[in-house]
Amino acid sequence: MANSFTLTIIKPDAVAAGHIGNILQMICQAGFRIVAMKMVHMSESEAGRFYAVHRERPFYRDLVRFMSSGPVVAAIIDAENAVERFRQLIGATNPEQAAEGTVRRLYGTSVERNAVHGSDSDANAVTEAAFFFSELERFTY
Ligand code: CMP
Repeated sequence: MANSFTLTIIKPDAVAAGHIGNILQMICQAGFRIVAMKMVHMSESEAGRFYAVHRERPFYRDLVRFMSSGPVVAAIIDAENAVERFRQLIGATNPEQAAEGTVRRLYGTSVERNAVHGSDSDANAVTEAAFFFSELERFTY
């Protein structure tokens, strides 16, 4: 059965542009429940660890620099089939290719500065949720 949760990050570009409230509203209106949330400013080494799966990619260094350039909001959000549903809500990685009305289409400005992260698989959602949150920081309703 699919995970009931996924991990999202509102990235430094969207935080700096003042979009935290609008993005959280879209997430809640889409039927997700926030079960853990925090604002953090990652160091380069922390951002590097978070994106370790991409370390061989040409964009890795810039991505790590960008993700540690300012505060982000990390959250675990619950819904049935959360990973897939959230990927639909945020749209394609490149905001130019993201569908109308998606978070990245509305708030992303480039393939790197694409406003939000969403886990791309159930296994990664588990790893990424544990990166930011302890069991004590996750609520059940
Ligand atoms: P995200 O969903 O957080 O997962 C990896 C991130 O790497 C991605 O969003 C983008 O911010 C970034 N990324 C992916 N592809 C590229 C690319 N071709 N060029 C620059 N950054 C990229």
